Amino acid sequence: MKTTDHVTLKETSFNQLFRRISPEEICDNVFTLAGKVFPVITAGKEDHYNSMTASGGGFGMLFMKPATWCILQATRYTLELIQKEKTYTMSYLPDEYKKQILFLGSKSGRDSAKMEEVELTGVQAPSGDMSFKEARLILECKLTEITTPNPDDFYTQEAKDYINEAYKGANDYRKYVFGEITRVWLKN
Ligand SMILES: Cc1cc2nc3c(=O)[nH]c(=O)nc-3n(C[C@H](O)[C@H](O)[C@H](O)COP(=O)(O)O)c2cc1C
Repeated sequence: MKTTDHVTLKETSFNQLFRRISPEEICDNVFTLAGKVFPVITAGKEDHYNSMTASGGGFGMLFMKPATWCILQATRYTLELIQKEKTYTMSYLPDEYKKQILFLGSKSGRDSAKMEEVELTGVQAPSGDMSFKEARLILECKLTEITTPNPDDFYTQEAKDYINEAYKGANDYRKYVFGEITRVWLKN
């Protein structure tokens, strides 16, 4: 199926579009996933959800469960919804959706209608969490931990500079968000 075919996408259900795989079956290189493509993080349910673009972060095992982590600025509306819902998705979209990916990172859903404006097709996973039919890979996550690191926790000058720059005001604080990967969906 051509993912660019909007009509086809609209008519196709989540289960027709995606198949569930295990975290171990993810074929993408983790450094490419974390460093070269921008995940769209989405929290909320169909009646109200919000997405933002992220970068960095990583994957691994936390408390013996497959996990992902990302660094979100304290003010992000998506972060507020993650804290409320305790679940979220990380959606990886093909390059052809770069414009939409950047758009979701260009303004906050707290005071804009960006979720109505974005040219993507929102879809509920069977769990009720939201993602996009255009995604090629979706990670469903359960919030495990949110940590606000202390500037004293950093040892390299580069890291110290980063955190001192980031901590100019309380709203600028970076939250380290860890989530257990509960389900992985791959585009058919
Ligand atoms: C390419 C790109 C990468 C971004 N990475 C991050 C990130 O890792 N952490 C973060 O807090 N904001 C990041 N942003 C900024 C947020 O996506 C942006 O502030 C967004 O409008 C927040 O939306 P929200 O308030 O609706 O959640 C990124 C933006 C872009 C365009």
